[in-house]
Amino acid sequence: MPLFPESFLQEVADRNDIVDVVSSYVKLTKRSGANLFGLCPFHSEKTPSFSVAPDKQIYHCFGCGKGGSVINFIMEIENLTFPDAVAFLANRAGLALPENGSDGERRRRERMLSLNRDAARFFYSQLVAPSGAAGREYLAGRGISAKMTTAFGLGYAPNSWNALTGAMKSKGYTEQELFDAGLVRHGKSGGVYDTFRSRLMFPVIDVRGAVIGFSGRIIGEGEPKYMNSPETMVFSKSHNLFALNLAKKSKRGYIILAEGNIDVVSLHQAGFDCAVASLGTSLTPEQARLLSRYTSEVVIAYDNDGAGQKASQRAIGILEKLDLKVRVLRMEGAKDPDEFIKTRGADAFSLLLEKSENHVEYRLRSIAAKYTLDTPEQKVAYLREAAAAVAELSSAVERQVYAMRLAEQVGVDKSVVIDEVERSRAARLKSAKREAEKAAVRTGSRGRARDRSIRYENERSAMAEEGVIRLLYLDPELVNEVSLTPEDFTSPLLGRFYTAVREKALAHAPLSMAALGGEFTGAEISHLTSILQQPENLANARIAMRDYIATIKEEKYSAAAGDDPLAFAEQMRNKKGYGG
Ligand code: UTP
Ligand code: MN
Repeated sequence: MPLFPESFLQEVADRNDIVDVVSSYVKLTKRSGANLFGLCPFHSEKTPSFSVAPDKQIYHCFGCGKGGSVINFIMEIENLTFPDAVAFLANRAGLALPENGSDGERRRRERMLSLNRDAARFFYSQLVAPSGAAGREYLAGRGISAKMTTAFGLGYAPNSWNALTGAMKSKGYTEQELFDAGLVRHGKSGGVYDTFRSRLMFPVIDVRGAVIGFSGRIIGEGEPKYMNSPETMVFSKSHNLFALNLAKKSKRGYIILAEGNIDVVSLHQAGFDCAVASLGTSLTPEQARLLSRYTSEVVIAYDNDGAGQKASQRAIGILEKLDLKVRVLRMEGAKDPDEFIKTRGADAFSLLLEKSENHVEYRLRSIAAKYTLDTPEQKVAYLREAAAAVAELSSAVERQVYAMRLAEQVGVDKSVVIDEVERSRAARLKSAKREAEKAAVRTGSRGRARDRSIRYENERSAMAEEGVIRLLYLDPELVNEVSLTPEDFTSPLLGRFYTAVREKALAHAPLSMAALGGEFTGAEISHLTSILQQPENLANARIAMRDYIATIKEEKYSAAAGDDPLAFAEQMRNKKGYGG
């Protein structure tokens, strides 16, 4: 039985940002990319190979192979046991240690999620019921379509003290469970009453599709305008974003951060399916970290008032710390995105998005400012530097567009600039490849830890097993696409780690090295961290996952069949017959 509940380990890790903690022992500096580097405190070295990844909240040394969560770092550097390191960090963050980790926690969490889901269904049924006219009229008045109503799972909490309570009790939930989920409150006379009454209900759905809480807007005018679920064992306002469940599927390549739930619905309705909002708090570092899992660029579209400007400034700082590209929308003539779209239309909003300065334009403008462009030498020097900046763009189309702009600006043939950009790009890729090879040599094959106790029997399968774990860790929702059992893993360690990750993902429990750490030895954690540390392409995660699984299955059958082709065919036949 674990010493601490995962939720507590998660809380400890959340309140002890790895960059902050490590920085008090190691001087970290920023290089290119999201990671910070410093001299490894665990072995002696002259050039920094110790890295900290703020987005994944892990550290990893490319030199000695040590790595893990913030808890492992403290264990290692303070020479503490796992529970003592947790206590150390809890104390650092001013958290009290829990009495005792309870067995039923996971079951209670699952019950609460299913209660929330049933409550969301109830609110939706009330919206379409004859008695839900007030809710429907309000939606119509705000111009929210039926399509958005279903996409967001919007609902209506009727004007009643016990409609939800009655409906949920008849489904077998207890008053205590309703209370724990924040759906009822205790009345003076001892009974309970519905928390949300006469409100438009926005379910808050996490990235795995679970209803974790609610935000209820008053119908019409009145106070408080919004009521939100309280913090519960499945809901924390500061760790979640409204509509990220939808926005993460967007193909736009960036995320729009708005203030209000209504803004988000309006934006989605106008085709901006990448909008999210931070549940009434100003953006927190945890929310930013969550965003960084799904995008590398955020467009801030806060309200056009003093509070919005201030909140934007704060959000910019938080997002830039995680190396996210940030753009800020300037909305003239409307107080928020909802009003802007209603009065000026979706196309006008698209223009705003385009006009918001992107990082390439920004960089080109600052490069141009260094040159006078009035002599050939000046022009050449400018073109060289600007072409190098354009060469960093991964999209060929973008490179072409900016190359053409540069050519026009300087007055040279566009093919000349395109050649210069592609030449600079080739040089960059070559040196990046050389760097990667050097790093691979430093760390042994494929960037793995040098621990001799961890060896792979089947290298090809193990690489795919690592891939499965990496993808699951980065996007736990993929758990539904993975049909593997721990026995399918040729590496027992990877099989165990898979089991741990899978359990958490299925229970919608938070996933982090810190929460998983208790079950593994230091050497194992270092090894697992080095796996997570390697890059993974989340954009094609589903395809990548399928490929990894196919490789694992292929290796399994060919290993079972040995080199005998007939035996292999037999295997495949049996496999087909099995389970139909
Ligand atoms: P807004 O007041 O801007 O709400 O608050 P809105 O969603 O844009 O709604 P309309 O368009 O004015 O009707 C922004 C966000 O702040 C949170 C909610 O999440 C809201 O969406 N909020 C606001 C609260 O949590 N409590 C409140 O009392 C008000
Ligand atoms: Mn608003």
